[in-house]
Amino acid sequence: MNSASQIIEQSSQKFVVNQESKEGRIIVKQSLNLCGQVELSGAKNAVLVIIASLLLTEGKSILTNVPHSDDVIQMIALMEELGAQVFFDTIQKKVEIDTRLITRFKVSSLLMKKMRASVLVMGPLLARFARAEIALPGGCLIGTRPINFHLKNFEKMGVSFTVEGETIIGSTVQLRAGSFVLEYPSVGATENILMAATLTPGITRIINAALEPEVVDLIAVLTKMGAKITVLAPAIIEIEGVALLKPIEHQIMFDRLEAGALLAVAAITGGSIYLPQASTHNLDVFLLKLQEMGHIVESGEGGKGIRLIATKTPRAVSFVTSPYPGFPTDLQAPMMALQCLAAGMSEVHETVFENRFLHVRELQKMGAQITINGDRATITGVENLYGTSVIATDIRGSCALVIAGLAAQGTTTMTGMHHWKRAYDHFENKLAALGAHISVLKNG
Ligand code: UD1
Repeated sequence: MNSASQIIEQSSQKFVVNQESKEGRIIVKQSLNLCGQVELSGAKNAVLVIIASLLLTEGKSILTNVPHSDDVIQMIALMEELGAQVFFDTIQKKVEIDTRLITRFKVSSLLMKKMRASVLVMGPLLARFARAEIALPGGCLIGTRPINFHLKNFEKMGVSFTVEGETIIGSTVQLRAGSFVLEYPSVGATENILMAATLTPGITRIINAALEPEVVDLIAVLTKMGAKITVLAPAIIEIEGVALLKPIEHQIMFDRLEAGALLAVAAITGGSIYLPQASTHNLDVFLLKLQEMGHIVESGEGGKGIRLIATKTPRAVSFVTSPYPGFPTDLQAPMMALQCLAAGMSEVHETVFENRFLHVRELQKMGAQITINGDRATITGVENLYGTSVIATDIRGSCALVIAGLAAQGTTTMTGMHHWKRAYDHFENKLAALGAHISVLKNG
């Protein structure tokens, strides 16, 4: 078993290397007809918030199916900074987190800046210590990504904020329950308010809440801790505050976004894939669009297990990204790689983030015909993409470039590896096991 501090030491070395642009690159060669079965990793977007939620408890919790990705390492570092004792068995994908010795409520700006999800400690810290000190969070450059929905609603819960330099200090005498309306179903704001409300006396309602599957996994965790949470239609989460929450054991849900990426891999290479742990109800609209392209999508009883058999003659499709259960914004870039090679004209309307077309320029370098008009992209299918040097500019964009590289003639070299490593647990190994010609080169 590796201790977290060992892993974190390696990780912070990686980040120093990143800053010097010596983080390595991925080399992808055209790899057609990829076929096989793949086991999914745990979901990044679930595990980060679930680790943060353990701040609500005092004791040792155990999480399994934890992906060994850089964001998880950073979240563990953040928990250690607050005083938690953490052990991460990266082979067994198991994390033990003991929160008994947590006495601090301040997160250093270095950690906050590496990952936007670090803002998710605010709710638990306010609930447990009535105080939280955090710097403005970092993360992918896919928009302005403010945290005003979080702050506004915490203020309504009785929190006062002051700003000292780049640190926001939130403090309260006692959090107050109430009905809080989100003007947009923000995933992070829903999670933050939800966690804070679990230890707030009275009934809290989050109206127009995000109900992404990862939020539902968080609700499962909080319920195991002893929280009283009911989901009411339409999109209301009701929380009855309790006095104490207890440590838990939980298996992190499988990553639906990794599943989506793998389906896209099979689709673009003209192959077939079976994902036994994937669920159709997590990906309904995405699967619909794959079918409209001409791919065969099958599933087992209750939507469990997804098989895709690719068509060799994909058709253009159009879609609009929206909160769950709509087309996930996190699969917009991977899907665009497929649209580049689909016959006809496809349109993408990105409504969730205002700057999520950073991958377009890189796809264009590979021969894609894409024009952007504000939050819409028009893609005219081409016969071939061509391997070249590309730069990953955000997590899901990195995935799209690798997917495109698998179908492109020649060799694609992708730098900007820190984006890839943030979200995925050695995804390149899963692709190699399917027969892909892919390798990660470390720069000397
Ligand atoms: C989470 C996911 C991310 C996904 C996104 C949307 C994690 C770790 N990340 O991000 O992968 O792409 O949901 O499904 O779970 N907004 C504001 N003010 C706020 C909060 C959000 O204006 O206070 C805006 C954002 O700028 C964005 C939109 O709301 O345009 C959606 O953001 P949100 O749902 O909060 O995304 P995240 O929780 O950051």
